[in-house]
Amino acid sequence: ALVSLRQVLDHAAEFGYGIPAFNVNNLEQVQAIMEAAQATDSPVILQASAGARKYAGEAYLRHLVLAAIETHPDIPVVLHQDHGATPAQCQQSIRSGFSSVMMDGSLMADAKTPASYEYNVGVTQKVCEMAHAVGVSVEGELGCLGSLETGEAGEEDGVGAEGKLSHDQMLTDPVQAKDFVAQTGVDALAIAIGTSHGAYKFTRPPTGDILAMDRIAAIHAAIPNTHLVMHGSSSVPQEWLQIIRQYGGDIKETYGVPVEEIVRGIQSGVRKVNIDTDIRLAMTGAMRQVFAQQPSEFDPRKALAAAKNAAAGIVKARFEAFGCAGRG
Ligand code: G3H
Ligand code: 13P
Ligand code: NA
Ligand code: ZN
Repeated sequence: ALVSLRQVLDHAAEFGYGIPAFNVNNLEQVQAIMEAAQATDSPVILQASAGARKYAGEAYLRHLVLAAIETHPDIPVVLHQDHGATPAQCQQSIRSGFSSVMMDGSLMADAKTPASYEYNVGVTQKVCEMAHAVGVSVEGELGCLGSLETGEAGEEDGVGAEGKLSHDQMLTDPVQAKDFVAQTGVDALAIAIGTSHGAYKFTRPPTGDILAMDRIAAIHAAIPNTHLVMHGSSSVPQEWLQIIRQYGGDIKETYGVPVEEIVRGIQSGVRKVNIDTDIRLAMTGAMRQVFAQQPSEFDPRKALAAAKNAAAGIVKARFEAFGCAGRG
């Protein structure tokens, strides 16, 4: 059944676990996540970015999720809009049937320029008013994702600030978080603790100076009834990087957010964990492997089936590690 984000995160908070939120763009990703959820009895958050809407189209995304719900009637599914750039975009997703929307007011409508605190409060307030009136949940964001190592915002073509950010911009302030929640009424809040989108998060396995996990407990203490969200939470598995390289890919040395750090975050109050890149890496590795090992193969289903299995492997591992398994 389609449920709101608030419903599944309230349950996660009550029982002390976290729920991975996976980005979806196509059939095989939706199938992989649903099959892994069925196998582990886990609740599901499927999220679509602006890039996903551009790639697949809103109607295809909606019907893929409706098909998932029809095929797995016992699994609770949240359809969440990832990184809404404007209230108008959130309104459109609400009208199209999403049960949850993110208004990312940490950035201006171009999804690149860091916004003022007042702007963020204003747009997020507006979306909460619209969404809550029809039972749709809202995720806000306070602080900008970015690398504490380099001061760079990270991704160039996706969602994220462009260019340099200050250390303060990249760390959510607990006192400001309390005021933000009081003024907006968001159900969930994305926080900035040094993670960034994409495969290139850290040049070395992260330590406390570049991945500020300790901040989570302080934010949670300030806003105990608001569910905390970690973006940029791919772990960037070294074994998939190896496979991609082995079969002709070119991915430089890079490190993600270790699963055990995310588990620590969940113990400190994180309830939603956004993952896109890990599924991309696994699917790409699996497809490269199929085509390299079977050069005469021309049925794309062979590569796509392998990609789906690889994605399901990542998803299942995260459901289990985050304590989500058995909670569907
Ligand atoms: O927010 C970032 C997600 O990884 C979505 O990426 O804009 O390429 O779909 P995308
Ligand atoms: P990753 O790029 O680490 O998978 O993060 C995805 C994300 O935060 C989507 O909003
Ligand atoms: Na989101
Ligand atoms: Zn994100």
